[in-house]
Amino acid sequence: MFIVFEGIDGSGKTTQSKLLAEKLNAFWTYEPSDSEIGRFIREILSGNVKVDNKTLALLFAADRVEHTKLIKEELKKRAVVCDRYLYSSIAYQSVAGVDENFIKSINRYALEPDIVFLLVVDIETALKRVKTKDIFEKKDFLEKVQNKYLELAEEYNFIVIDTTKKSVKVVHEEILNYLKSLKIM
Ligand code: TYD
Repeated sequence: MFIVFEGIDGSGKTTQSKLLAEKLNAFWTYEPSDSEIGRFIREILSGNVKVDNKTLALLFAADRVEHTKLIKEELKKRAVVCDRYLYSSIAYQSVAGVDENFIKSINRYALEPDIVFLLVVDIETALKRVKTKDIFEKKDFLEKVQNKYLELAEEYNFIVIDTTKKSVKVVHEEILNYLKSLKIM
């Protein structure tokens, strides 16, 4: 079982993905990953290194190729819960101006998740929740990313959960109830 959490920063996906991983005794992981490529990506996100948006898309795809090997190994043993995956690239990099078909083609080797939870949130609430800011954390940009995610939700059948004004516990329960309804738990 490969479960992915997506959403803009401040949507609650890190907290919720960790809670679910604990509950399922699953392996919890995230992107950008801890690889050398992931570390380089973080340098770019913090604004210390500047590259073309297409280069950044290629780096995310490269990081994902390496990370997917680890995910596949873990999936042999247990469920995997991943904080951000392919759809982060489609949403963020396309809003940043990179051609969507190019993004999809360089991510051809990504795994298809069994379930994708998209956590959505009111943008003001999201901005209040995030502490460290990266190059993408601007209101207008995040608004466009969230709208793009909602478009992708239709295309890929995400489970959309609005976390605005909801406690961590309530959202966690909604997620568990959904998995129970699918007889996954
Ligand atoms: P984030 O999950 O916020 O990492 P951190 O744990 O450092 O807070 O991801 C960092 C940023 O990277 C976030 O703004 C979204 C962006 N991102 C992309 O643009 N494309 C991608 O493919 C991924 C995985 C992340």
